[in-house]
Amino acid sequence: MRAIYFLLIFLILLSLLQNHSIYAQRYHPLAKLWKVDDTEVPEYLGLEKNLTAIDEILRPILEQDDFISSFGGTFINIFENHIVINTVNYSKVDDLLALPQIKPHEAFLYFKKANNSMNLLKHNFDKISFITQIIHPKKVLIYIDMRYNNVVLYFLGHNINNTEFIDAVKSFNPTIIYEGSSPGSQNIIRPQHEYDSDNSITIKALGGDGLYNSAKSAACSLGFWATNKFHPDELYIITAGHCYNDTDPQNNFYLLPWNSTLSNLPFLGSMVFDFIEIYDFGVIHVVDKDVSPSFVIRNDDTDQYKELPIIDGAPVSSHGVHICKSGYSSRFTCGYVLGLNGIYAVEDGFTVTWELIITSMYGKYGDSGGSVFSFASPQDLNLVVVHGIIITVGLASCSAQSIDTIFNQLRENTFYDLILYLGGS
Ligand SMILES: *[C@@H]1O[C@H](CO)[C@@H](O)[C@H](O)[C@H]1NC(C)=O
Ligand SMILES: *[C@@H]1O[C@H](CO)[C@@H](O)[C@H](O)[C@H]1NC(C)=O
Ligand SMILES: *[C@@H]1O[C@H](CO)[C@@H](O)[C@H](O)[C@H]1NC(C)=O
Ligand SMILES: *[C@@H]1O[C@H](CO)[C@@H](O)[C@H](O)[C@H]1NC(C)=O
Ligand SMILES: *[C@@H]1O[C@H](CO)[C@@H](O)[C@H](O)[C@H]1NC(C)=O
Ligand SMILES: *[C@@H]1O[C@H](CO)[C@@H](O)[C@H](O)[C@H]1NC(C)=O
Repeated sequence: MRAIYFLLIFLILLSLLQNHSIYAQRYHPLAKLWKVDDTEVPEYLGLEKNLTAIDEILRPILEQDDFISSFGGTFINIFENHIVINTVNYSKVDDLLALPQIKPHEAFLYFKKANNSMNLLKHNFDKISFITQIIHPKKVLIYIDMRYNNVVLYFLGHNINNTEFIDAVKSFNPTIIYEGSSPGSQNIIRPQHEYDSDNSITIKALGGDGLYNSAKSAACSLGFWATNKFHPDELYIITAGHCYNDTDPQNNFYLLPWNSTLSNLPFLGSMVFDFIEIYDFGVIHVVDKDVSPSFVIRNDDTDQYKELPIIDGAPVSSHGVHICKSGYSSRFTCGYVLGLNGIYAVEDGFTVTWELIITSMYGKYGDSGGSVFSFASPQDLNLVVVHGIIITVGLASCSAQSIDTIFNQLRENTFYDLILYLGGS
């Protein structure tokens, strides 16, 4: 009896050890997201890249007049190694497969029965966006979700009465999702000696680090660094526009590193430009020469993949692919792309933010402005491409302002000729 007892304990310990050793190999953020081992990440990332490249060819074709009423969008499924194509009229499938650009990729296409064509989805989205600007619903993300093959209304606060809006858009049959109110407090914090910065060594400020605005007594996060195209020594930080307090003449920003003590925060500079309506981003002109710019994103709560170099900036184009963020409050999290070109009807109900990437990432207040990016290469699992900055946070619903929107708007509406900072020249 005793022997059996010890054998049982031994077996339990053994299984715990084995589980632990399996777990110990999940360091990479994508291994955690996809629930695979670190060693499998390059293969799945390779599949995702290949499917994204096929989707890149497919999407513009499906937008054409002869297909837009027959198909209802695509999304990538790396575990099945295929692209799901929502199919409304199956008699068009052969026409699509007959195209020489599509034919070679047939094995990676999966035609799924769907009711709503892209034509209808876009029409419904446009109508709902229009009604949004008239009725001013509060705290709702609106986007086309390819998995649901429908327009989604994702309400971030369920204590708000949005009945009038829901009634007004009922005829378009949107999918309605409510999320529990976001966890965590507003992160109101007060550093002890704001202006006291006597650091002589240079300080690194990475993507995802905190930013503290003394005019708001609140934290935001650093998205990415930018420089003037013609004067590379002019340095800027991009973060969310709503980190700005427009009733205060002075918006001074300080660096708030992860786990920092809230004292002796290094001064960065003031916000020289911000968008709060239509788009949501702000530009901090960094004047402190002790703070050095960086093209690295912070992930240093783990043992590996702590600092992730940015190799490029680009918009997201496919649904269903992975996406990650780094921010001051909830640190490093990953999820999937749920929607592109979505909109957000803001808390105060009078503004709408456009051109958002809608994701399933987890985030908290204080992550606003933080870096949003994806892993770039199966050959080097540290490298990332930056896609934008965090705008709204939630349990599984963070949204981001797209990087191309930010640079396009700066070029069109300001004299700041900025480009993404990628180190050196
Ligand atoms: C991706 O495509 C390339 C070129 O077709 C191929 O060599 C490679 O094996 C593919 N990668 C994966 C993970 O399937
Ligand atoms: C489906 O496509 C075929 C071929 O283009 C067309 O003849 C047919 O009318 C379409 N069906 C519907 C329901 O639109
Ligand atoms: C399409 O619509 C029909 C009728 O409303 C419904 O029964 C069916 O479940 C829908 N199919 C899909 C894939 O949503
Ligand atoms: C919500 O607003 C509608 C009108 O917009 C009103 O009729 C309804 O009573 C309100 N519901 C609650 C619970 O306040
Ligand atoms: C913004 O600044 C004004 C003026 O300094 C101040 O009264 C107000 O409390 C600030 N707002 C926030 C959210 O901190
Ligand atoms: C910050 O704190 C967390 C837990 O509180 C810890 O795991 C992490 O290593 C710390 N990071 C740094 C950079 O000190």
